Amino acid sequence: MKLQDRVAIVTGGASGLGEATVRELIAGHAYAAIFDIQTDRGAQLAGELGERAMALVVDVTDEDSVTGGVRRVVERFGAIHICVNCAGVPFAAKTVGRNGEPFPLALFRRVIDVNLIGTFNVMRLAAAEMVKNQPDADGERGVIVNTSSGAAFDGQVGQAAYSASKAAIIGLNLPVARDLSEAGIRVNAIAPGLFDTPLVATLPEKARAALIDTTLFPRRIGQPEEFARLVRHIVENSYMNAETIRFDAGARMNQR
Ligand SMILES: NC(=O)c1ccc[n+]([C@@H]2O[C@H](COP(=O)([O-])OP(=O)(O)OC[C@H]3O[C@@H](n4cnc5c(N)ncnc54)[C@H](O)[C@@H]3O)[C@@H](O)[C@H]2O)c1
Repeated sequence: MKLQDRVAIVTGGASGLGEATVRELIAGHAYAAIFDIQTDRGAQLAGELGERAMALVVDVTDEDSVTGGVRRVVERFGAIHICVNCAGVPFAAKTVGRNGEPFPLALFRRVIDVNLIGTFNVMRLAAAEMVKNQPDADGERGVIVNTSSGAAFDGQVGQAAYSASKAAIIGLNLPVARDLSEAGIRVNAIAPGLFDTPLVATLPEKARAALIDTTLFPRRIGQPEEFARLVRHIVENSYMNAETIRFDAGARMNQR
């Protein structure tokens, strides 16, 4: 799908990988709507990027919030062609903690709620708009890109909830791509390794260094712009469908 004048929703678009994606899509002359719960940062970014950007306070886990957000995007930009899901939370706990306490179930539910159910909530509501689009010359009406993680394959200690949520993102690819194939809508996922975002900045230096040590080449942390360029490639390359791309400089995570 050509980017020029297409309309994108980017969840988690106020920060990190989502922010870089918003910038890349707008640099490609698309329109982008930021769906995020970080109100100030989203509005600031949209203000910086000008009239092709808009920021909405949307909680991906909330049906009414996303429905309202989708409606406002269609009112302002006329359609939705691209949906990139980057909203996510990393909360970690061990299955049985240091003092014998079991993994807090509410925490497990929260991670699944944001990372998995939030992603599906946005995809289904965005896709319901995409099916109304006029197909392009290739018969394409829309494209969805979801964010998984290397933890979907190599979950580390404490990542039971996070890994399960990210593995489930991979599980969405094929059935949803099949559901939407007649409408000409593609679904793909990116499974990033370690990227330099506010989420990762909270890690202690030692933990960051240990993760960088798992890369083959290049031996460094990934930059959000590199993630954004892959999103753009997936959008523009119409033959890419129902696939998960590991994007991690060959990194395979250690046990801890
Ligand atoms: N940075 C990495 O190394 C890395 C690696 C693998 C996967 N990921 C995944 O990439 C995605 C983006 O991560 P990031 O590093 O850019 O993190 P980040 O914390 O910089 O950005 C995440 C954004 O999601 C938003 N968000 C959280 N809950 C939300 C909700 N309920 N509704 C709407 N927005 C919500 C946050 O406000 C934030 O702006 C996440 O899904 C994360 O799990 C990141």
